[in-house]
Amino acid sequence: MGAAAHDTTAVFTIRPLEAGDREQLRRLFYRLSPTTVYRRFMSPIPRPSEPALDRLLDVDHCNREALAAVVDGDVVAVVRYVRGSRPEEAEVAIVVEDAWQHRGIGKLLLALLARRAREHGVRAFTATMLGDNRPAARLLKGLSEQARFTVSQGEVEAVVPL
Ligand SMILES: CC(C)(COP(=O)(O)OP(=O)(O)OC[C@H]1O[C@@H](n2cnc3c(N)ncnc32)[C@H](O)[C@@H]1OP(=O)(O)O)[C@@H](O)C(=O)NCCC(=O)NCCS
Repeated sequence: MGAAAHDTTAVFTIRPLEAGDREQLRRLFYRLSPTTVYRRFMSPIPRPSEPALDRLLDVDHCNREALAAVVDGDVVAVVRYVRGSRPEEAEVAIVVEDAWQHRGIGKLLLALLARRAREHGVRAFTATMLGDNRPAARLLKGLSEQARFTVSQGEVEAVVPL
């Protein structure tokens, strides 16, 4: 897969995350701002543990899928879904490195992941985000006008039909 962002100087490619991407993920993590880390993991994680990296790299391209956006050899964004106990639903999570936000990468990654998920029988994405995470809410709303959001104790649960 390949794609060009709206900005003509920003060319990136999109590919499935691979088992060999451990150091890429580690480097990506250290380039994220504290706010982006907190919004993605809902916790102020200082560094990624090896078990956490194991989980992030654990994809089977059916029940657990992840796509990476790559610029000049660096992974700058990752979107993933993990199917839970309900096979028609999958939890989605996304992060775009701060320097590459607001260029349409998140929207494109999410759309491509949704297409893959549909091909594997997923009918809705679910997501949990902090109550003030408007960029993430707008991104999910952009995927489907039917996205539903439920606020509870400072967190938002989203259900997005695909
Ligand atoms: C949420 C997140 C993934 C969005 O990624 P992104 O790549 O910035 O998203 P996009 O660029 O596709 O869209 C974001 C905005 O940029 C705008 N945009 C897109 N291309 C643009 C361009 N070329 N120039 C200017 N703005 C642009 C979009 O219209 C959108 O605006 P809106 O929010 O007002 O609707 C990113 O902010 C992030 O990583 N946040 C931290 C982690 C997180 O919150 N994850 C979600 C919970 S798991």
